Amino acid sequence: MTLLELEDVTAFYGSVQVLEGVSLSVPEGGAVGILGANGAGKTTTLRAISGTVRAGGRITFAGENIRGTRPDRVAGLGIAHVPEGRGTLGGLTVRENLRVGAYLRKDRRSIAADIDYCLDLFPQLKDRISSAASALSGGEQQMLAVGRAFMAKPRLLLLDEASLGLAPSTARNVYAAIRRLREESGIAMLIVEQNATLAFSLVDTATVLETGRTVLTGTSDELKGMDEIRRAYLGG
Ligand SMILES: Nc1ncnc2c1ncn2[C@@H]1O[C@H](COP(=O)(O)OP(=O)(O)O)[C@@H](O)[C@H]1O
Ligand SMILES: [Mg+2]
Repeated sequence: MTLLELEDVTAFYGSVQVLEGVSLSVPEGGAVGILGANGAGKTTTLRAISGTVRAGGRITFAGENIRGTRPDRVAGLGIAHVPEGRGTLGGLTVRENLRVGAYLRKDRRSIAADIDYCLDLFPQLKDRISSAASALSGGEQQMLAVGRAFMAKPRLLLLDEASLGLAPSTARNVYAAIRRLREESGIAMLIVEQNATLAFSLVDTATVLETGRTVLTGTSDELKGMDEIRRAYLGG
């Protein structure tokens, strides 16, 4: 069943139109990638979904029209957004950040269990549980950002450039944990990732954006087999 569907989505910063027609769909429990050059509109597509940019076209989530819905209500419907640059709260500790992620939940006992799960998924955070988020390394902050989003118990996770600025081995660790999270939780994922090798290690299908428009959609295997994709995104 389709969980999220974008049809001909447009988006604007002020009067400047930056999305011209983005279409994609994420099945329940599926993982979909968005590929595209810098400035293609990947981040803006995620913002259109989470309600943080003015958008046109159709955006439906679990059968409900969510275009133009306020960000807090989108979050309440079960969409968690890990933004570019992570967005952890630097002045709060790791534990506090994880608790903040669960702010819409009332199930105290399972919140504690889910914090334990996050620490199992990202063991590096265990030793830093009482440290301020601002004192963490880039990789640890990315882990915390994913953990915080998980704490909202979303049906869909929006993940923007999780590998950005990380050492290759750290980026691979982060993606391994996200793959495990996907397998164990069944949370659907829409992933923006410059590193297509990492993206393809996680997603089933991907959509390619060019200047604010969907130009290609295919399975990971189909896309990996295409010369233009290999040249543009896989370094060969
Ligand atoms: N806050 C903003 N105000 C005006 N233009 C923006 C803003 N953010 C992004 N843009 C422009 O929108 C286009 C798409 O940006 P973005 O979605 O960030 O691309 P990507 O994530 O694919 O690199 C780019 O041309 C960018 O310069
Ligand atoms: Mg971006």
